[in-house]
Amino acid sequence: MRLSLSYVLGLAGVALAQTNVSSYIATESPIAKAGVLANIGSSGSLSSGANPGIVIASPSTVNPDYLYTWTRDSSLTFKVLIDQYVNGQDDTLGTLIDEFTQAEAILQQVDNPSGSVSTGGLGEPKFNINETAFTGAWGRPQRDGPALRSTAIMTYATYLYNSGNTTYVTDTLWPIVELDLNYVAEYWNESTFDLWEEVDSSSFFTTAVQHRSLRQGITFANLIGQTSNVTSWETQADSLLCFLQSYWNPTDSYITANTGGGRSGKDANTVLASIHTFDPAAGCDDVTFQPCSDKALSNLKVYVDSFRSLYTVNDDISSDAAVATGRYPEDSYYDGNPWYLTTLAVAEQLYDALIVWDDAGELNVTSMSLAFFQQFDSSVAAGTYASGSDEYSTLTSAVKTFADGFVDIISTYTPSNGSLSEQYSKSDGSPLSAYDLTWSFAAALTAFEARDGNTYGSWGAAGLNASCSGSSSGTIAVTFTIDYDTTYGENLYITGSVDALENWSVDNALIMSAADYPTWSITIDLPASTTIQYKYLTMYNGDVTWEDDPNNEITTPSSSTSSITQNDSWH
Ligand SMILES: *[C@@H]1O[C@H](CO)[C@@H](O)[C@H](O)[C@H]1NC(C)=O
Ligand SMILES: *[C@@H]1O[C@H](CO)[C@@H](O)[C@H](O)[C@H]1NC(C)=O
Ligand SMILES: *[C@@H]1O[C@H](CO)[C@@H](O)[C@H](O)[C@H]1NC(C)=O
Ligand SMILES: *[C@@H]1O[C@H](CO)[C@@H](O)[C@H](O)[C@H]1NC(C)=O
Ligand SMILES: *[C@@H]1O[C@H](CO)[C@@H](O)[C@H](O)[C@H]1NC(C)=O
Ligand SMILES: *[C@@H]1O[C@H](CO)[C@@H](O)[C@H](O)[C@H]1NC(C)=O
Ligand SMILES: *[C@@H]1O[C@H](CO)[C@@H](O)[C@H](O)[C@H]1NC(C)=O
Ligand SMILES: *[C@@H]1O[C@H](CO)[C@@H](O)[C@H](O)[C@H]1NC(C)=O
Ligand SMILES: *[C@@H]1O[C@H](CO)[C@@H](O)[C@H](O)[C@H]1NC(C)=O
Ligand SMILES: *[C@@H]1O[C@H](CO)[C@@H](O)[C@H](O)[C@H]1NC(C)=O
Repeated sequence: MRLSLSYVLGLAGVALAQTNVSSYIATESPIAKAGVLANIGSSGSLSSGANPGIVIASPSTVNPDYLYTWTRDSSLTFKVLIDQYVNGQDDTLGTLIDEFTQAEAILQQVDNPSGSVSTGGLGEPKFNINETAFTGAWGRPQRDGPALRSTAIMTYATYLYNSGNTTYVTDTLWPIVELDLNYVAEYWNESTFDLWEEVDSSSFFTTAVQHRSLRQGITFANLIGQTSNVTSWETQADSLLCFLQSYWNPTDSYITANTGGGRSGKDANTVLASIHTFDPAAGCDDVTFQPCSDKALSNLKVYVDSFRSLYTVNDDISSDAAVATGRYPEDSYYDGNPWYLTTLAVAEQLYDALIVWDDAGELNVTSMSLAFFQQFDSSVAAGTYASGSDEYSTLTSAVKTFADGFVDIISTYTPSNGSLSEQYSKSDGSPLSAYDLTWSFAAALTAFEARDGNTYGSWGAAGLNASCSGSSSGTIAVTFTIDYDTTYGENLYITGSVDALENWSVDNALIMSAADYPTWSITIDLPASTTIQYKYLTMYNGDVTWEDDPNNEITTPSSSTSSITQNDSWH
């Protein structure tokens, strides 16, 4: 029998595993950074033919051909470089970052099969590396691209602005960011291909990063005084946050990644969303599925467990130890294998959680996260455990070991030259599919930073409420008008089937205005997308006269319309 590494380490103990993980990271970090830079034009050593600032997905040109630039991969990659630059970890990256923003500004304007810049073209997922449109068949649009790109560029622009370079931000970067944010605000509620480019429906990852981009956009726009669209973005961000809640599966306690495709919905999509919307100021907030939130931890266990018996490389690994994980259990691309970047994402979510618990000086076990924590201590009960308590030490060191286990698996299946491909074989762990995948290298860098306790700023996740009804986003101003000849002292009223129309109350019926007599009118905020019944009535010296049956009926449009007028005549 072939003993897996984790099994051996399990016998040998924790300290050994951590030593190996640390030494792997020390070796792999510079390789991953160099791997990223090699894949960026025009001077990257593996990206010949790519224009300046263009990120190639991989140098691989056959089986598969990934020599294209994807907005998602490029933006996630440059977010890493921008974070390093603005945090003073690497001050050599400024020119490259400027080339990236210039390249993206060009791509935004390229007409493509998804449309032009003003008709939906920003949702195009990939382009040729010479900045022309890719016109072949593809899963398009993918609406996470503009969200991820604006997030990366805003992070850079905020830094420049706060350093006093306001003109460049306002004149050069803001127009790029504004196009992306307006795209998100306009199209978030339309279906999209997911980040794996396979399912056309709604996608948790896409919704989560769209929400982040608008929140960050509101803060950024206010910072630089470009506030004309902020009110509209606030409304859309509230709606996005409400919609985000709907992916939660309360029966099986995980996040359903896609609403289409006929899969279980257990998917690295959700783990990637959690790490790419991590906000260290938001604590373990459930509403934004922060890495240490009980929903995200419950989801993580369900996702990880779905691979335990799926891959041969996971055989003989105990049920509380790390395993190789892939995109989703039903995956059949290259016959369905684990991916480097998805396994690393699990580690990163756990490292992020450890950062927040350490900062808070406590961790909560809730009924929702109990199954996750019971992997490490079967007797643990729901409760708050303060740092310094035995339970806190037991759980946090077990989570750290668990997290390191995922890096250990990546270490085991990294070839000796440090190259990270897209996938590694489910049967023997050897590298598969595209080699030197830029996103794999970027995923290693972010996981390693999180293990070191490094965080990269807030985007406004703290203290948000997902109010899905009664918020201003859910209403629409409806003006009712009706022509009616009255005698002096007689007034016209309206009442109807919803709160805003006083629930058919006669006593509280709403009096209309005769400012345009004989046209009577009233404007009322009614719930959007709702069918409402109502009637007019008159009152004169205490005598009430109703319209005849049937009731009037109106179906209000969605809240993307702000107001409508309903012209009636008395019947
Ligand atoms: C882990 O470290 C031990 C001790 O240095 C070594 O014997 C073992 O080969 C290492 N394993 C890996 C995968 O690096
Ligand atoms: C850009 O690249 C594509 C794909 O390689 C190629 O077909 C096209 O001719 C190139 N266009 C220019 C202007 O170089
Ligand atoms: C602002 O930043 C841009 C981009 O790095 C740079 O080209 C420009 O010289 C800077 N301007 C000032 C005044 O520092
Ligand atoms: C649009 O939003 C509504 C309300 O949140 C939701 O029910 C619907 O699934 C959304 N559709 C898409 C394609 O996002
Ligand atoms: C957002 O801003 C753009 C450019 O200033 C403008 O054309 C557009 O109408 C605005 N959209 C909304 C919803 O206010
Ligand atoms: C633990 O739960 C309490 C009560 O809900 C909350 O106030 C606190 O922020 C939570 N702490 C963490 C680290 O989640
Ligand atoms: C690294 O090793 C892998 C697998 O052994 C190989 O496919 C790849 O070409 C190598 N990469 C470099 C940059 O040498
Ligand atoms: C969220 O709800 C809490 C409790 O109702 C309230 O104190 C807080 O101000 C709300 N936050 C926002 C951003 O509305
Ligand atoms: C309308 O009816 C609902 C449900 O019966 C009730 O909750 C609400 O308070 C009523 N609103 C008014 C304005 O009477
Ligand atoms: C109601 O009348 C106003 C004023 O004549 C008009 O502008 C509006 O379009 C009408 N609304 C409908 C729904 O017919």
